[in-house]
Amino acid sequence: MVSVLFVCLGNICRSPMAEAIFRDLAAKKGLEGKIKTDSAGIGGWHIGNPPHQGTQEILRREGISFEGMLARQVSEQDLADFDYIVAMDAENIGSLRSMAGFKNTSNIKRLLDYVEDSDLADVPDPYYTGNFEEVSRLIKSGCEHLLASIQKEKQL
Ligand code: 4NP
Repeated sequence: MVSVLFVCLGNICRSPMAEAIFRDLAAKKGLEGKIKTDSAGIGGWHIGNPPHQGTQEILRREGISFEGMLARQVSEQDLADFDYIVAMDAENIGSLRSMAGFKNTSNIKRLLDYVEDSDLADVPDPYYTGNFEEVSRLIKSGCEHLLASIQKEKQL
């Protein structure tokens, strides 16, 4: 089983959206039994909360389930447990690398780094911008490229 953990700051806007969209893409390729998907936040402010209203609206419109998804905080153990830790922006990457200390961080990547021709390197935080549409387009593209990369790497 290949495991993928999406990480953002609060785990209510971007990373749950990525988790749900990626899981849906993988399922459509018949890979649901082969890839385990989760998400977590750098901060603990929203632990136990469902996705943000803006993220819920996007997922509902796309017909993608977010049932049972509740925010949690990323832990040091996650860094060892997941094959792919996929963060939304450079700040998240910095926080995760600090958490890892001297341990290997080669499994920590930024989502849009998988999109070779992307104009943006970071997925902007819609908690502050309010632009969930732009975020959903970036995340969808990022997830498609990430899945293709994992399929190639893991021969799925
Ligand atoms: P996210 O957005 O990282 O995409 O979930 C945020 C949600 C909450 C906060 C910051 C960003 N917050 O500071 O509470």
